[in-house]
Amino acid sequence: MEHVIKKIVILGSTGSVGTQTLDIVRAFPELFEVVGLCNGRNTDLFKKQIDEFKPAYFNTLGEVESGYGGAKFAPAEEIASLPEVDLVMAATVGCAGMPPAIAALRAGKDLALANKEVIVMAGSLLIDAARAGGSKILPADSEPSAISQCLEGEASDPSRLIITASGGAFRDRTWDSLAHVTPEQALKHPTWTMGPKITIDSATLMNKAFEVIESRWMFDIPFAQIDVTIHRQSIVHSMVEFEDGTLKAQLGPTSMLQVIQHALLYPERHANSNLPKLDAMKMGSLTFEEMDQSLYPCFELALEYGKKGGTYPAVLAGADEAAVQLFLDGKIKFTEMPDLVAKTLSAHESITAASVEDTIDAARWATETTLIRHNQTTILS
Ligand SMILES: NC(=O)c1ccc[n+]([C@@H]2O[C@H](COP(=O)([O-])OP(=O)(O)OC[C@H]3O[C@@H](n4cnc5c(N)ncnc54)[C@H](OP(=O)(O)O)[C@@H]3O)[C@@H](O)[C@H]2O)c1
Repeated sequence: MEHVIKKIVILGSTGSVGTQTLDIVRAFPELFEVVGLCNGRNTDLFKKQIDEFKPAYFNTLGEVESGYGGAKFAPAEEIASLPEVDLVMAATVGCAGMPPAIAALRAGKDLALANKEVIVMAGSLLIDAARAGGSKILPADSEPSAISQCLEGEASDPSRLIITASGGAFRDRTWDSLAHVTPEQALKHPTWTMGPKITIDSATLMNKAFEVIESRWMFDIPFAQIDVTIHRQSIVHSMVEFEDGTLKAQLGPTSMLQVIQHALLYPERHANSNLPKLDAMKMGSLTFEEMDQSLYPCFELALEYGKKGGTYPAVLAGADEAAVQLFLDGKIKFTEMPDLVAKTLSAHESITAASVEDTIDAARWATETTLIRHNQTTILS
């Protein structure tokens, strides 16, 4: 089969998903050309990536002079919408990923979406931008990727999506017993190795609520038809039920490599000896437990405001970002995160017909308000 080189941009290239995206690119030099790399502040790794992949453009919050390695500094939105770009991998963490992701969709680029906060913030606007730009949103997150793979080739709509959850670092403990857990304990995910924010969001189950909101928009299905089940082994990445009672599941190793490769090469599948394989004979028992939502205050809160819509989901994402940072910095307790997010949500007046820019402003306001509220509370007490 003859292949045309895909020209790609990676947002968040120095992170967990970003570096694994480059692992896939490295495995298929004949299929990909890296046109742009964007990161935050990890300058040492970023320079190494520029040296190796020789992008024409880069964007960074760190100290890299324009022209380094022959690459030109440019705004991330500009890089993500360059005429020659075919696909943008959105792997920035948090709300900062929204401007380049939306710019890519508006410019008609396919978007491999790992950065779920972006679709949580403005689900319908993102889908509308993809439709208007004629671009595809390709899930680069294991659960929506599983759902999408279960739906491939089906002419009928699903009757139910069942998202699997490992349960996170504290799956066998009650919420009340978690007041004194440390960031180090919360960062020990039982099955996945990921960046710090998503690992904490997994421990509070905020991440699972984000995936429900993400799936509601990505698969155009009402919230009432999306369930979550606790699946400790993280082998079944999600399931889809159809009206005739058929249940389809997608299984895979606990690795993002397949998921990322599928998004980058969609709709093709290629052999890659670096990918871990799942041995069906050694899989053992698979268990699925009903999730008691009342045990996870972040999950309940996120779904309540995710369903309200307007600018509430953006405020949810922005406030969560601040709360996770405060917990990781040792400034608040694990169990204080939902209260802090809830206070910011109740102080917000949602805009109903919000624009993308309104959602970006709302998320920024929420992050700042949550941080300021915490600092004021600390000074008063
Ligand atoms: N990790 C996973 O397995 C996984 C699975 C599914 C979905 N996701 C989603 O994918 C996204 C990335 O997760 P991750 O685990 O890869 O996170 P991560 O390891 O923390 O990496 C985050 C990336 O974003 C960059 N970044 C941070 N703040 C930035 C800013 N303000 N502007 C521009 N770039 C910024 C970081 O740059 P520096 O490091 O250089 O500062 C880094 O490249 C998240 O939305 C997460 O929910 C992750």
